[in-house]
Order: sequence, then structure tokens, then C-alpha cells
Amino acid sequence: MAKIKVGVFGGGRGYSMIRQLLNNPDAELVAVCDKYKPLLDRVRAKADELGVKIALYEKFDDFFQHDMDAVVMANYANEHAKFAIPLLESGRHILSEVLTCATPDEAVRLVETVEKSGKVYSYAENYCYTPVRQEMRRRYLNGDIGELLYAEGEYIHDCSSIWPEITYGERYHWRNTMYSTFYNTHSLGPILKMTKLRPVSVVGFQTQPSKHMVELGARFGSGGVEMVTLENGALVKSLHGDIKTANHSRFYLSGMLGGLLDKNNKDRIITTYTEGPNQNCNGLSEEYECKHTVEAAGATGHGGGDFYTTYFWIRAILGDEEAKEMTIDVYDALDMCLPGIYAYKSILNGNISYRIPNLRNKEEREALRGDVFPYIENGCIPNPIKDEDIPDEVYKRVEQLWKEGKRG
Ligand SMILES: NC(=O)c1ccc[n+]([C@@H]2O[C@H](COP(=O)([O-])OP(=O)(O)OC[C@H]3O[C@@H](n4cnc5c(N)ncnc54)[C@H](O)[C@@H]3O)[C@@H](O)[C@H]2O)c1
Repeated sequence: MAKIKVGVFGGGRGYSMIRQLLNNPDAELVAVCDKYKPLLDRVRAKADELGVKIALYEKFDDFFQHDMDAVVMANYANEHAKFAIPLLESGRHILSEVLTCATPDEAVRLVETVEKSGKVYSYAENYCYTPVRQEMRRRYLNGDIGELLYAEGEYIHDCSSIWPEITYGERYHWRNTMYSTFYNTHSLGPILKMTKLRPVSVVGFQTQPSKHMVELGARFGSGGVEMVTLENGALVKSLHGDIKTANHSRFYLSGMLGGLLDKNNKDRIITTYTEGPNQNCNGLSEEYECKHTVEAAGATGHGGGDFYTTYFWIRAILGDEEAKEMTIDVYDALDMCLPGIYAYKSILNGNISYRIPNLRNKEEREALRGDVFPYIENGCIPNPIKDEDIPDEVYKRVEQLWKEGKRG
């Protein structure tokens, strides 16, 4: 069978996918696009080392013309749908980095374009695929802890030390202008993937901005929380942000008959409790190590999660039904992303509850068309720290740190 010809848009985070694709026997990496030349130079050096040919583009329009079947979106997090839509229309399969879309209006346009195209759209929410989280999914779907009552997911990542490296001192970089509940799918996504339950409503909360992030040019409330109700009535707390903590992110499922816990983001130990016959706290507690379902994932980033997103996507394009089940399709991707958008509506409106539309239903789509929340005049997002609150000197200092290869 012919290999899938793949292009990668964005060479920063995209380099992780580039590495996966160069090792994938079913894929041929044919093109990479990034307007920042040093990132293209790194790809050129890798291609020379391996003796392969990869076309390099600085402009999206030129990249778009390249002969390729599929494209990885690793460009700016708030511009994935904007570029994925024309690529889908031109017949390319899509693997999208986080996040899915920037507004409800884009959500509708994306879902309709995917449907019309018939192509494989998959969301690269790598936090769903660590060995422990895959095992939690297997155990939950096996019925081992009964029906879900409550869950927690966390993505706690104080990025202050790498802020110069990832924002380059750009005042309007999406990382500086985003809002507290924008980057929500690392924490909520795995819970939805594990349980196959849909979110139906959300209430949002945020902390105040933290001083160390404002001093680096960020304008958002540092911690974002979405309290999400699922279709069966279960409640999920999704917490994420640049807050300081003594332990890294944990994931927790509590069912009617037991619980499953991933204590620490990258280790492989699952902790479980399953009820005994009388269901009166006389059950079995266990801890055991989880293995990768594909051995090659072992050495890759984010606890192996970086391997599976590309692997399942390529297998799904080739028609592998098991792989398709493991990918995150456009509807599931929007179930992960929309709660972050509606949580921010909730925050700006006194923490009222918002219903999360189910875009599988065509009749629910009309209400979202033209809704470009949270963008207000001049493309700005209303944040606790205003644009004018941060002087240019802050960004100049961060830019200088970046140029000198220093940390924030
Ligand atoms: N899943 C994860 O664990 C993880 C980790 C890091 C980043 N990400 C995601 O990866 C994406 C990229 O993040 P990043 O860390 O590389 O930072 P980034 O968003 O600053 O980088 C995007 C890259 O795309 C290039 N780019 C953007 N628009 C372009 C255009 N129109 N033409 C040409 N080049 C363009 C930029 O030059 C830049 O190199 C984001 O969506 C981010 O959320 C995910």
C-alpha cells in the first residue's frame, strides 16, 4: 500500500510529529512549513542526516500547493481551524494540535467541513494516551468501577521558566493573550476519552493573574477551572494553568463501584480500588505498572502520548477500525474544547452555567453561527490584565532573554 504523504504546518511543537513521521513505516514526510527559518534549518539538517527529501516552505500558500494527502496542524493554537478548513476542502486529512477551534462559529464551520470532506480529522490530545490513562480507559469501559460519579483532570504546568522560549517576547503571541480556560483539553480531554461520556454543561472559574506570569507579559488569570456535568449526571473538575504545585497533574475517576487514579503525570503506576461483594468498602486496593500498548511509544515525549496521536491517525487513514476508535474525531474534539470557551462565558457572566452544544446534532448548529466569543473589538480577548497594563519594556526584556537563550 502506498505511504501517506504528510506535511507538517509549524516546526516548533511540530518537530515532535516530524520525528514520529520519519519513523512511521506507513507515512512519508514530504513537506514542512514555518515562517521562522531556523526551524526549517533544523528539519533540513535532519533530512540530510537521514538522506530523505523534505520540501521546506516559509509561506502557507506555497505549502498548500504541495502534493500531500494529510497535514499536521502545529501552528498557533488559536488558528488551527482557520487553516484546517481550507486544507480539508482541498481533500487533505488533518491531525490538529490543541486546541480544536477558537470560537463557536469556527466549531460549526469545522464540523461541517469535516463532514463534507469525508476525510479523517483527528485531534492530537496526547494527554489521553499515557499508559496509565489508556489503562484507566480500558478498566472504566470494562465496567470495573461501575458508572462514573465524579472525576478530576489536571494540567498544572508553570511555564514561567520557558516563557521567553515559547513567546519570544511577542506582545500578541497567543500564549500572552489567551484566557484562563482556553487551554483546557489536556485536563478535560482524557476524562472524556476514558469514559466516552459527553459534557452537557459547564461553570467556569479562574484565579487572579499571578505576578510571575504578568511580569513575563501574560494577561490571563493563572488558573482555570471548568466544573463540567456529563450526560449521565457525573461531575468533572478540570483544573489547568501556570500555577505552582508540589505535585504534577493527576487524573482521577470515581465510579459507583470503585476508583482509578493516575497520581503523577508521567509515571506508569495506576492505583485502583474496586468494591467487594457487599459494596461496603471491603473491596480490593491495588497498584500496578501499566505497559505501552505499542512498544515503540516508550521513548517518546509526554509519557508516550506523542507517539499515539500520529500513529493512530495514520492507521485510521489507512482504514484500521481499531485505530479509528482510538483517535479523537471532530465531535469528540469539540466536546473537549467547547467547555473551555463556554467556561469563559460563565466567568464573565457571574459563574452562571452554560449548556454545551452537541454539534453532532445539525439543529444545534444555527445558534453558534457568527458567535466569535471571546473576541471583542480589535481581535482582543477581555482579560483581567489589559493590553495597556503591560509596558513595552516587559516584552523587550522577554525578547532579550529569548535571544540570549535564557530562562524566565
Ligand atoms: N500537545 C502538547 O503537549 C503540546 C505541547 C506544546 C505545544 N502544543 C501545541 O502546538 C502548537 C504549536 O505550539 P508551539 O509550542 O510550537 O508554539 P507556537 O504556537 O509559537 O508555534 C507555532 C509555529 O507555527 C509557525 N506559524 C504559525 N503561523 C504560521 C503561518 N501562517 N505561516 C508559517 N508559519 C506559521 C510559527 O512560526 C511557529 O514556529 C500549539 O497549538 C500548541 O498548543 C502542544
